[in-house]
Amino acid sequence: MGDTAKIGIGGKTVELPVLKGTTGPDVVDIRKLYAETDTFTYDPGFTSTASCESKITFIDGDAGILLHRGYPIDQLAEKSSFLEVCYLLLHGELPTAAEYATFDHNITYHTMLHEQFDRFFMGFRRDAHPMAIMVSAVGALSAFYHDSTNIDDPEQRMISAHRMIAKIPTIAARAYKYSLGQPFVHPRNDLSYAENFLKMCFSVPAEDWKPNPVLTRAMDRIFILHADHEQNASTSTVRLAGSSGANPFACIAAGIACLWGPSHGGANEEALNMLKEIGTVDRIPEYVQGVKDRRYRLMGFGHRVYKNYDPRAKVMQTTCHEVLAEVGHSDDPLLKVAMELEKIALNDPYFVERKLYPNVDFYSGITLRALGFPPEMFTVLFALARTVGWIAQWKEMIEDPSQKIGRPRQLYTGAPQRDYVAVEKRG
Ligand code: CMC
Repeated sequence: MGDTAKIGIGGKTVELPVLKGTTGPDVVDIRKLYAETDTFTYDPGFTSTASCESKITFIDGDAGILLHRGYPIDQLAEKSSFLEVCYLLLHGELPTAAEYATFDHNITYHTMLHEQFDRFFMGFRRDAHPMAIMVSAVGALSAFYHDSTNIDDPEQRMISAHRMIAKIPTIAARAYKYSLGQPFVHPRNDLSYAENFLKMCFSVPAEDWKPNPVLTRAMDRIFILHADHEQNASTSTVRLAGSSGANPFACIAAGIACLWGPSHGGANEEALNMLKEIGTVDRIPEYVQGVKDRRYRLMGFGHRVYKNYDPRAKVMQTTCHEVLAEVGHSDDPLLKVAMELEKIALNDPYFVERKLYPNVDFYSGITLRALGFPPEMFTVLFALARTVGWIAQWKEMIEDPSQKIGRPRQLYTGAPQRDYVAVEKRG
């Protein structure tokens, strides 16, 4: 018998099992608590609650460690490729050469969109935020690919996973091209995942387009850095949506909607806006004072889980320097502001005491801007990369025999039962 936790409530003592993971904090299994004590636990924002069992990603926020299937993120960013990381997240192991070749084929085979799908984009205003297009277009995939929406069929589940990973760059690039009023560029299956995406975004029929290996590698690495991040808000949204048996395309659309918020995926856009607003190094102290006066937050800083330097931010910082050097923007004034702001914040007691460190979004905005993307596209790129994490987590949930529909309870503090009052008797 392992450890147990005893809780005394209303004169009764219940003994609850304590479960151990491979690593990380133990969890108290409270599943029987309500049945035995008529009591719920209360944890808004899930700060102390493990919502599921998972084998995909592990984060040690105090040590600044992020592992996918056991492999450290910095090793994956340096040595792997995004498609290989996709395979790893979905299947649990790094692929053999033959497995990789098959996977690569399966993804590239699905990169095109149904021809009629293009008409869907035409319904949007040209100034629509591309995340608005992403939410709707990804949800609409379920209207086009009925043959992969039976969630009880493992083969259909895998096909929908491949379709999603393959088609999301095509949709994201179309959302961008549509905003520019430029023709859609079809995917090319002879290019790598990142090359193909950059081509669909930046090539035009009037000119030849050649991939730049430094920028392609940076794009691929940015995708790796965003591929999965355990049970964050959007992933939990995907799991919750999927727990009702909704089809995977609809679930990923729900995840994209959640990601859009400025506290989550929208932070990279906000971080760049913040750097622009600060503008020059001499304005940093005044801006930092505004943060301390709680007028606004330092975007790209702080994290619910990391109370140390976000390991993704380290890789992103290196990538940022590489990209800026390649495009000849090493003297970008915003980079100077970012580096100085980071230095000041890392030494300022306000940030030190609260364990606020740069997160992945701090340097990603400057990097993506140097790659040629406008700020509205930043969260789209995050969504593109996170799709594999969402679908891997969704698949794991569906395949978990203990899976149930997600149904949190509440602490009700509203009016007690009362009788309806006719309108003439109110007030
Ligand atoms: N700037 C200034 N103060 C901050 C910040 C920040 N960015 N983040 C947290 N704090 C302070 C906060 O005011 C509070 O102080 P006090 O205890 O004195 O009231 C303390 O730190 C704890 O904050 P919290 O809101 O309880 O922390 P949280 O875990 O709920 O919030 C967060 C996490 C990411 C929402 C928050 O740090 C934040 O708003 N950061 C800015 C947005 C951002 O960069 N988000 C991207 C996250 S990484 C990418 C992703 O996963 O989507």
